[in-house]
Amino acid sequence: MCGIVGYVGDGQAAPFLLEGLTRLEYRGYDSAGIAVYDGEKIRIEKSVGRLSELKKKIEGNVPVGSTGIGHTRWATHGRPSDMNAHPHADCHGDFAVVHNGIIENYMTLKEDLIAKGHIFVSETDTEVLAHLLEEVYDGDFESSVRKVLSMVEGSYSLVFMSRRDPGMLICSKQDNPLVIGLGDGENFIASDIPAIINRTRRTYILSDGEIAVVKKDAIWVTNHAGEPITKKVFEVNWNAEAAEKGGYEHFMLKEIHEQPKAVRATLSSRLAKDDSAVVLDELKWNRGFLDSVNRIFIVACGTAYHAGLVGKYYIERMARIPVECDIASEFRYRAPIVDDHTLTIVISQSGETIDTLAALKEAKRLGSRTLAVTNVVGSSIARDADQVIYTWAGPEIAVASTKAYTTQLIVMLLIALYMAGIKETMPQKRIAELIRGAREIPTQIGKTLEDVDPIKTFAKQYGFNEDVFFIGRSLDYDVALEGALKLKEISYIHAEAYAAGELKHGTLALIVEGVPVIALATQKSVYEKTLSNIKEVKARDAVVIGIAAEGDTELKKYADHVIYVPEADEMLIPLLTVVPLQLLAYYAALTRGCDVDKPRNLAKSVTVE
Ligand code: G6P
Repeated sequence: MCGIVGYVGDGQAAPFLLEGLTRLEYRGYDSAGIAVYDGEKIRIEKSVGRLSELKKKIEGNVPVGSTGIGHTRWATHGRPSDMNAHPHADCHGDFAVVHNGIIENYMTLKEDLIAKGHIFVSETDTEVLAHLLEEVYDGDFESSVRKVLSMVEGSYSLVFMSRRDPGMLICSKQDNPLVIGLGDGENFIASDIPAIINRTRRTYILSDGEIAVVKKDAIWVTNHAGEPITKKVFEVNWNAEAAEKGGYEHFMLKEIHEQPKAVRATLSSRLAKDDSAVVLDELKWNRGFLDSVNRIFIVACGTAYHAGLVGKYYIERMARIPVECDIASEFRYRAPIVDDHTLTIVISQSGETIDTLAALKEAKRLGSRTLAVTNVVGSSIARDADQVIYTWAGPEIAVASTKAYTTQLIVMLLIALYMAGIKETMPQKRIAELIRGAREIPTQIGKTLEDVDPIKTFAKQYGFNEDVFFIGRSLDYDVALEGALKLKEISYIHAEAYAAGELKHGTLALIVEGVPVIALATQKSVYEKTLSNIKEVKARDAVVIGIAAEGDTELKKYADHVIYVPEADEMLIPLLTVVPLQLLAYYAALTRGCDVDKPRNLAKSVTVE
């Protein structure tokens, strides 16, 4: 996601800011900017596009000064543009701020500030922070920042600078990382260690709710109440490359572990506080509109298509509108029956997949209303669709998609619940139950990630098999498809997923002694049927690895091993059962010595047919 840097010291700020941001480029971004205090004013320079654009812009006229902040932005609120790039300033250029995360109550704060005469120039939530500081500033920079932080809700890591308080930066964090690098006559701030690793390995890692005042020769840290906190120096012992991956061996593993945060961000500010409804301000649909829709197409490729399958299930079950889920490269050429009573939902992490984009254009041409679910603000698909809902997963770098999938599932759930609320196709009590369940998912994914040792063991044990089968019914089948795709993509093991009830119609012929079968059994309405299918493969001496919810006591009687995920509503459990399958694929690929993040022949963004 976004990157943050800050410098205060005896040296020049700009060279470090640009170097630090360059080291954060791997995280993905769409614009960049720096702010440096030049002894008189805060000079802000920013540019949409790569850092090289910013460097070109200031070539021969690099801001001079020894206090500064910088940022690479990955758009969430407002498209990528010069205006929306950080740093953001208040009306008089007295303060500048860089921010990662989402200020959830920014609209209310913004309206208030506008009423008080503040002039906003960007579409971002971040700009509110600068104006709020201007509004409450009482001559004491630190206490004013504390006041600002007491007024904002959401997640953030941020750094403020002030023209009235030169030589001082104030930073804080909530749910987003921030580190302070300790130098000699200079100190550094960064959202991630790679930004500072070339300058210092001695750091303070800030915790949620801590506020740090950073000067060139002093740092003090307090909590929101102003009580001092003693920080321990954390010595970084990674190299730059490992640090980019936050200490994980691969981006894929990092991204698997980022799922609780990504799902939380995607849910954030989209659920009514009292759990009564889903709030999708992006859509503003009404009963009249939804009654006019008689068919929905969900169109996507790869993992996004698998998320679409779950979406179909959600919408049909909850909103009772017929849904067809289609592979984009098929949809675009098969003369689909689409008219102005059709809603086409395209799902794409990158927002650039050529077939999905073409399918979207085709649906529009045929008169369909269109909605994009994507992770990249300002992407081609986001721009072309009538409406957009963003997944807030942050940049996904590994080719094999993980956190994009889980956030896509969450968005599909939100859309289905939103429709059901408007169409009154589901009891209010059930909507509230699912919303409460969704709130638990990030923590439950976290629990699923706690004990990966059994998964590592299975990967070692079965990682050299040439064929693996995945079976399940209903939503378990949809997740099985994604599990099989993960395994074949990165470990090159031939993996196939089958609707468990379909086994007898051919695939059972392939089940012989020792063939691993991964069986998902979480769906109550078809549980007994799935158990029967498991017995069938066991009778052919397959090795069965079951995936079940905690509390299940049956499956272990028939499976060779069982991996348990936390108990959750069966509608929501795909968000949990997919996690061990992602990990299994990851560790199988490691066992086989594959290039996990860049599997052979595959690309992250497929922009050719
Ligand atoms: C490629 C990627 C997959 C992704 C698919 C669709 O195959 O390797 O991870 O699921 O494209 O990409 P999209 O960006 O449209 O979701």
